[in-house]
Amino acid sequence: MMKVVYPGTFDPVTNGHLDIIERCSKKFDKIIVLVLNNPSKKHMFSVEERINLLKDVTHELGNVEIASFTGLLVDYMKENQVELIVRGLRAVSDFEYEMQMALMNNRLYDNAETLFLIARNKYSYLSSSIVKEVASFNGNIKGLVPEKVELAIKEKLKGV
Ligand code: PNS
Repeated sequence: MMKVVYPGTFDPVTNGHLDIIERCSKKFDKIIVLVLNNPSKKHMFSVEERINLLKDVTHELGNVEIASFTGLLVDYMKENQVELIVRGLRAVSDFEYEMQMALMNNRLYDNAETLFLIARNKYSYLSSSIVKEVASFNGNIKGLVPEKVELAIKEKLKGV
């Protein structure tokens, strides 16, 4: 069985992430979307909220599991017998950071390999941070995130 992990912060999931998830779900037997918890970073959504949004937008895909982990990605991989990491690459600017992570993960865990999927053109400028920034100034984020996520962001911003 070909199982992959798609790790990230997902604060919150965007249509770019969702596109990678959908593409992976067609190519692999199982995809684990892993919300990595970094307690030292400030997030808009709690891990639980991020998980719930991810579950909501992937529920129609039968081979997608949503999980979370605090610690090194490779430790999760060892504990769960996953050896393949999927990451989306948007632009050349992503490459340096992604290469650093891929090499470090491989150094920490010899069996870990990273597979990059090129983000679709229409999502190549998209990130959770830019969506949050646009939303915080009342800009239009329709089509950039799933509808449920759009509502959740607006709800969060009401409380700010
Ligand atoms: O969505 P992001 O923020 O680009 O994802 C980055 C993430 C969460 C995949 C990365 O920071 C990570 O793997 N964090 C877990 C801790 C870890 O394993 N660090 C070493 C990786 S080189």
